[in-house]
Amino acid sequence: MPDLYDEPAYYDLAFSFRDFAAEVDIIQEAIRQFSRIEVRRVLELGCGSCPHLAEFVARGYEYTGLDLNPAMVEYATRKAAALGPGARILRGDMSRFVFEPPVDFACILLGSLYVTNTRELVSHFDSVGRALRPGGLYFLDWCIDFDPHTDIWDTWEVDRDGVHLRVTYITNRLNRVEQTYRETVMVQVSEGERQRTIEQRCVKRAVYPQEFLAMMAARPDFEFVGWWNNWDFNQTLDGEEPTNRPIAIVRRLPA
Ligand SMILES: C[S@@+](CC[C@H](N)C(=O)[O-])C[C@H]1O[C@@H](n2cnc3c(N)ncnc32)[C@H](O)[C@@H]1O
Repeated sequence: MPDLYDEPAYYDLAFSFRDFAAEVDIIQEAIRQFSRIEVRRVLELGCGSCPHLAEFVARGYEYTGLDLNPAMVEYATRKAAALGPGARILRGDMSRFVFEPPVDFACILLGSLYVTNTRELVSHFDSVGRALRPGGLYFLDWCIDFDPHTDIWDTWEVDRDGVHLRVTYITNRLNRVEQTYRETVMVQVSEGERQRTIEQRCVKRAVYPQEFLAMMAARPDFEFVGWWNNWDFNQTLDGEEPTNRPIAIVRRLPA
């Protein structure tokens, strides 16, 4: 069965339910409220098909995306080229990358923190810390497991230009001690008479809220800024409500 990340156009369509302009508005609001430096250069980790890219470029940011999958990198590079010189896509592993010169803002969107164990998680923050200027923000969308991703089954449908997708998102707990779960995204594609299924399966290490706070408190290079539900700065997380696409922001400390 083909992998979804090897078919970026279908990935793009399957996750097109978001309002990318509104999300970049929120990112700009985060920068306005919490960044200690002016932001010109942004870095997106696990950028995939870069659905936010056009919005960043239209607002004058210099955008770099980093992704491990060659098909995603190629697809996003074509998108970036069409937008002019303000964007570039690099192939690399978010759990160990070196990026020079440092950027003013970094983000990771739609739960794309792909680490399988604690060593990779720590190394990920080491890499982001090296890549981000002091005072700059690291913005994480749905990367903290307030509602653990154990045994979720969610499904939705997308129709566009004669293509119908039925997308199913499934998670299954793998190991309680290692905090790992399997994530499966299954996309059933119908185009005219043609029907096929594309699937993406991977193992992820969950990141729970209190360990995230403890990790940030113990690190010399980051400070915790805050977290909110639903990409909404009026919805500070208090633990009472179920979460949906919670965002968390940390800031790079001076050396
Ligand atoms: C869910 S997609 C998210 C794409 C994009 N951020 C968005 O908002 O739609 C996750 C992406 O992370 C990439 N990825 C997975 N593991 C990675 C790693 N270790 N380093 C860099 N990218 C990785 C995948 O190739 C995929 O393109």
